[in-house]
Amino acid sequence: MDDLFKKITGHCKEYGFVYQSSEIYDGLAATYDYGVYGSLLKNNIKEYWWKSMVQMHENIVGIDAAIFMHPKTWKASGHVDAFNDPMIDNKDSKKRYRADQLIEGAMEKIEAKIIKDVEKARKRFGDAFDENEFRSTNGRILDRQKNIDENLKRMNNALRNEDMDDLKAQIEELGIACPESGSKNWTEVRQFNLMFSTQLGAVAGDDGKIYLRPETAQGIFVNFLNVQKTSRQKIPFGIAQIGKAFRNEIVARQFIFRMREFEQMEMQFFVKPGTQKEWYEKWKETRIKWHKALHPDSSLRFHDHDNLAHYADAAVDIEFQFPFGFRELEGIHSRTDFDLSSHQDLSGKKLQYFDPEEKENYVPYVVETSIGCDRMFLAVMSHAYTEETVPDAKGNDSERVVLKFHPALAPIKCAVLPLLKNKEELTDKAREVFNKLKMHVNCYYEEKDNIGKRYRRQDAIGTPYCVTIDFDTLEDNTVTLRDRDTMEQTRISVDEVVEIVKKKCDMTQLFA
Ligand code: GAP
Repeated sequence: MDDLFKKITGHCKEYGFVYQSSEIYDGLAATYDYGVYGSLLKNNIKEYWWKSMVQMHENIVGIDAAIFMHPKTWKASGHVDAFNDPMIDNKDSKKRYRADQLIEGAMEKIEAKIIKDVEKARKRFGDAFDENEFRSTNGRILDRQKNIDENLKRMNNALRNEDMDDLKAQIEELGIACPESGSKNWTEVRQFNLMFSTQLGAVAGDDGKIYLRPETAQGIFVNFLNVQKTSRQKIPFGIAQIGKAFRNEIVARQFIFRMREFEQMEMQFFVKPGTQKEWYEKWKETRIKWHKALHPDSSLRFHDHDNLAHYADAAVDIEFQFPFGFRELEGIHSRTDFDLSSHQDLSGKKLQYFDPEEKENYVPYVVETSIGCDRMFLAVMSHAYTEETVPDAKGNDSERVVLKFHPALAPIKCAVLPLLKNKEELTDKAREVFNKLKMHVNCYYEEKDNIGKRYRRQDAIGTPYCVTIDFDTLEDNTVTLRDRDTMEQTRISVDEVVEIVKKKCDMTQLFA
């Protein structure tokens, strides 16, 4: 799986999807730039999310709030006091780690031993093997599982109670060494605030200290009344937003999975107090459907939070099986009235809704859906990346790497390829088709190299369709339409190209 992940990250760079930021200066850790095809793919992901949320729901409207907000925003939201991760340094390697991730890593190693034992037994017993029974009766596995459960429980308690001493004690008792140096020479565990701060130009000192937003949600909360009044929405209704967020992650790793600058797609759904549980369930269902519409065969699961954030009364992650295992892709949080009430208290401005049916004012409760656009990009990439052996033009086996994106998300929808480069009658006709098509979809014109090589290049960037103009085209006004996944070629009229490609790549099939 490590190997697969390396291949995906290598492919992203080689084919213009993602580059290391400031690469010529050896890069800046955990920041990435989206390249030629990456930026197109990312825009398509955002469009899929935005249209599903805003266009498809009469009661959801969108905004685009500023990244900088009044510093009191972050006091009210709890981020100044509670948006921390427990940090520990190794005195010998000078490397910094998250204490909870070190403990989780040690537990993953024990889990790996369990999996090894299970696989051994599977081989030994063959078809008769019952994994559940084996796990629940084998003494060694039961001891190891107990060890994992007890340690995770203790860690979660320590996190909840902000007991940094106990986290340190646990690291020592488990004999955890620095992955870099092998040393066990640790500092104390300390809380580390994840917000980036900067200084307003016009104001000196602490008064001018402002933050780069660590979540987009607060831009929605502080605008709640503005939006409700100007859009004339009635509760229940939602406000959606896509935008950058910044977190000074202690350990940022796994490519674009955990970055210091990333993009979120968030929606706050404002509901009547007491109905939040119902809406929480509804949004869990709606969001998993969104993922399944795109990747019906993907491995997704729900994972309830063990430790609730300071604002939540229920929270669940939608986890996706990345090449490095199941990890959080999206969060659905029942945020109570925490944010609106805190802003109301600190600002002294009422953030209430007058319910015309109940004839009363109240601070609405909020159910939030929050997905990282970059994580979704990595999920889409991981799902699409395929290595295959397929017949070449002579019928011999050949290897290809193909990105099997859903056509609606593919960066380029169709490549237009004249069979030969130096035949003006072919290139003129191909340009004519290209010029018509580019009015409707992102397409690509290419005449260099033989047609087989050109198909492979389009496979590698995930182009679902290729249109080839050959000598028959000049006779009967038809072209071949090649399907990326089946590699089947069908003959269609030039007049049909635009409509067929548009229909096959239409996003409405996902909404349906
Ligand atoms: N407003 C709620 C909120 O921000 P979160 O679980 O901290 O909740 C929501 O973040 C989503 O943002 C995550 O599910 C993940 O997809 C994405 N995300 C969070 N931190 C990230 C990071 N450092 N890099 C990339 N994506 C991140």
